[in-house]
Amino acid sequence: MKVRSVAIDGPSGAGKSTISKTVAGRLGFIYVDTGALYRVIGLRFLETGALGLDTLKLSLAFAEGEQRMYDGGRDVTEDIRKHEVSKAASDCSALPEVRAFLLGLQREMAMKSDVIMDGRDIGTVVLPDAGLKIFLTARPEDRARRRFDQLQQAGKVPPPYEQILADIKTRDHNDSSRKEAPLRQAPDAVLLDTTGNTFEQSASLVEGLIRERYGL
Ligand code: DC
Repeated sequence: MKVRSVAIDGPSGAGKSTISKTVAGRLGFIYVDTGALYRVIGLRFLETGALGLDTLKLSLAFAEGEQRMYDGGRDVTEDIRKHEVSKAASDCSALPEVRAFLLGLQREMAMKSDVIMDGRDIGTVVLPDAGLKIFLTARPEDRARRRFDQLQQAGKVPPPYEQILADIKTRDHNDSSRKEAPLRQAPDAVLLDTTGNTFEQSASLVEGLIRERYGL
């Protein structure tokens, strides 16, 4: 049977990953977080000062709905979420050799099972034939506020709101102004602006679009 694929792109903090993960769980799709792949490369770059693509043994495992990331035998799932890795991942993701390295891997994953894949260029470059494309966005202030609340709820001390907002704007600029596969809405993508929505409202909208598209 032909597998189903849903591409969800959009800027940082729009809720792509939490929404995709939840909806994938409800529909029995695999959720693939492609940002995590760039983050492993960003982590490496921070730690070693080089990309080291020739020796990079990137792998993923799905355990209880969670995507775990490995660099060789090392589980880097937690380390790639560190604040400083976000910027390094964004910088590394602008390099053509990094994008080329990850392209085949992402396409392979989408051939094996029904997927919801989220990122920046899934609908435009990685899966141009995805059955459904969604461009998920929200105002930067909304995204910064959600990030701030998320960190607090996780028991962490968040950086000041203004700092989070500035970082989000810098990443938006980096991700959408780069030459290689910039962040942009595919012409055939459905635009979903989640500003002011609750999580459940946004998740239901995404779930509804997928059900409608595939008659589920
Ligand atoms: O989604 P994220 O914040 O974990 O992604 C980290 C960085 O990786 C982000 O700044 C842009 C880059 N990225 C990309 O260029 N293309 C993708 N498909 C996914 C992420």
